[in-house]
This record gives sequence, C-alpha cells and structure tokens, in this order.
Amino acid sequence: MDEFAIIKEKIGEVIDPSCNQKLKDNDSIKHVGVDENNTVILIIEVQEKEPNHTKQITRDIAKILKLELGYAGVKIEFTKRKLRNKEAKTLLIASGKGGVGKSTVTANLAYALTRMGKKVAVIDADIYGANMPKIFNATNHKLLGDQNGKIFPFEIDNIQMVSTEYLVEENRALMLRGPMLGKVLKLFFEDTLWSEEIDYFLVDLPPGTGDVMMDLKNFSEDAKLVIVTTPQESAAHIAIKAGYAAKDLNQEVLGVIENMSYFEANNEFHYIFGKDGGKKVADELLVELLAQIPITSYDKIICKETDMAGIIYLNLAKKIMKLL
Ligand SMILES: Nc1ncnc2c1ncn2[C@@H]1O[C@H](COP(=O)(O)OP(=O)(O)O)[C@@H](O)[C@H]1O
Ligand SMILES: [Mg+2]
Repeated sequence: MDEFAIIKEKIGEVIDPSCNQKLKDNDSIKHVGVDENNTVILIIEVQEKEPNHTKQITRDIAKILKLELGYAGVKIEFTKRKLRNKEAKTLLIASGKGGVGKSTVTANLAYALTRMGKKVAVIDADIYGANMPKIFNATNHKLLGDQNGKIFPFEIDNIQMVSTEYLVEENRALMLRGPMLGKVLKLFFEDTLWSEEIDYFLVDLPPGTGDVMMDLKNFSEDAKLVIVTTPQESAAHIAIKAGYAAKDLNQEVLGVIENMSYFEANNEFHYIFGKDGGKKVADELLVELLAQIPITSYDKIICKETDMAGIIYLNLAKKIMKLL
C-alpha cells in the first residue's frame, strides 16, 4: 500500500460528529498530500462546517498522523457536502473575434448572478487565450486533485472557476490537439468537484466556433449561447459568422451582447467604435440585443454593483436567467 493509501485508511476511522459516521464511510477524504515539511495536507468533506466538529476531527486526525504515523503535522481544509443541483444551467459565451471582451463579460456576468443570490461556476475553456485567472486575480493558484483524478475548482467571492491556464506552466501557451481538447473539457465538465449548489455554469469559449463547440455537445447538451461583439464593422461581421456556425451546430443562440459600446463622460455618450454593430448582429441572427456595455476604466474590469455598467450587467443577468 502506498503512503497516501495508508494515511487514508488510518484516518478513515475518524468519526465526523456532525453525521456520526466514519470519514471512510462517506468517502469524505477528498485529498491527501504531504508537503516538504512532512506535514500532511488534507481536504475533508463534512456534513456541517461546525467549528466544534471540525476541531474534533482535526484533533483525532492529528493524533493518528503524529503519534501513529510520525508526521510533523497536518493541515486540513474542510468543505461542506451539498446536494447536487440537477437544475444547473449552462451558458456558453462566444465571439467571432478575440479581444472583444468575452472573458470580461463572462466574469462580470458571474458577479451579477452571484449578487442575485445564485451560485456560479466559470469554466475558462479558451484554451489558447485563457485569461480568467488574471481577471479573478488568481494567477498563482494551483489546482489540487483528489485520489481519483478529480480536481477542485478555485473559489473567489463565492464564484468557482477552473481554467486551462492552471494546467500549464506559467507564461506557456497550451498546445492541444483534438483528442487533448476533449480531455480538457472532460476534466472541467465531469471530473471537477464543483459545488453541488451551482445554479449556472458560464463557459468562456475560444473565439470563433468549431472544435470546442462540437466537443462541448458531448458534455452539455442543453447549453445555450450568447455572442459578444464590439460595435466595429469588422467585429460584427465575424460575430455574424460565428452565430451562423453555432446555429449550424444546432446550438441555440439566446442573444447578442455588445461590449465597449460607448464611453460616457459628463452625461454624454461617445460612440468611439461606431454604433449599432451589436444590433446588426442580433438582427441578422434574429435574436435579441441583450445589452450594450460601456467602456470602463482599465482598473475597473469587475464592475461594482452600483456602477452604471454594474447595473447594466444586473439587467443582463436577469434577462439571461429568464431565457435559460
Ligand atoms: N467594457 C470594457 N471597457 C474597457 N475595457 C474592456 C472592456 N471589456 C474588455 N476590456 C478590455 O479589453 C481587453 C480584452 O478583453 P477580454 O475580456 O480579455 O477579451 P476576450 O476574452 O474576448 O479576448 C482586456 O484588456 C479587457 O480588460
Ligand atoms: Mg478571453
């Protein structure tokens, strides 16, 4: 038996007082590791995160690990067991071109839905241009896996997130060929230990359509899609193409989001990138223009609830909740 299996077996006998069952009976030990200081790192799922209970579990485990097995110490992260939400909906965020603000819109939508009391998961499936960790300020995060090859999502501000960026070394691009792509999507859709309370999965797709969207069908049949564009003619033109491609794949398009629509100063709107690009895309695809999002300052990428853009995102979230 290997070292981790021995640890798991020994501490599996410890009882979780919140449900009066042994950790092993509930498959509660979700991760076992040992760091360079000979400290055991654990993730343990409990019925309730009641401090008296988690303290007792920690004490019981520490006793076994230190006295019986000779480890220097133990660090335990407790997570609460939840019932799976079968009603979870999936929204794909697509665009024709890159750089139109697809990831920015995804992140802000995640915050807007969270502000309305929903539990949101973000899947950064933009395999060549993953930038969700940067937007969420979580570039140093490392994905933890459990013994069964499952991974834990990163969580910030009550939003859970995984990104292909976490699968590669820093500043290296991820090179994937077809079958690998499927593997990444499987990892994020099937082998990630998402909170069972998730109401919405938001998937940030790579620009354009194609491989990913086709592969996605295998994992999320009833997902629906929105298209992000900027007002420029060039962006709108390619967004229309992406929209048709999605329709060809029998992918329902809910609507269009126009980003960087205008810049507001002194109550005046300046249409820096032109006007009505988003409307043109929506009209062409026979769907609704769901929102027009203003240009915001570069240091306010995540909008506050009270910002003008924050309010627009709240309205967008409400519309999407109805349409999904
Ligand atoms: N509404 C906006 N106002 C100002 N800057 C924006 C806005 N939306 C996106 N950006 C900026 O534009 C760049 C591209 O956005 P990003 O979300 O990464 O695009 P994509 O995911 O489509 O490639 C980023 O630097 C982002 O901060
Ligand atoms: Mg992006």
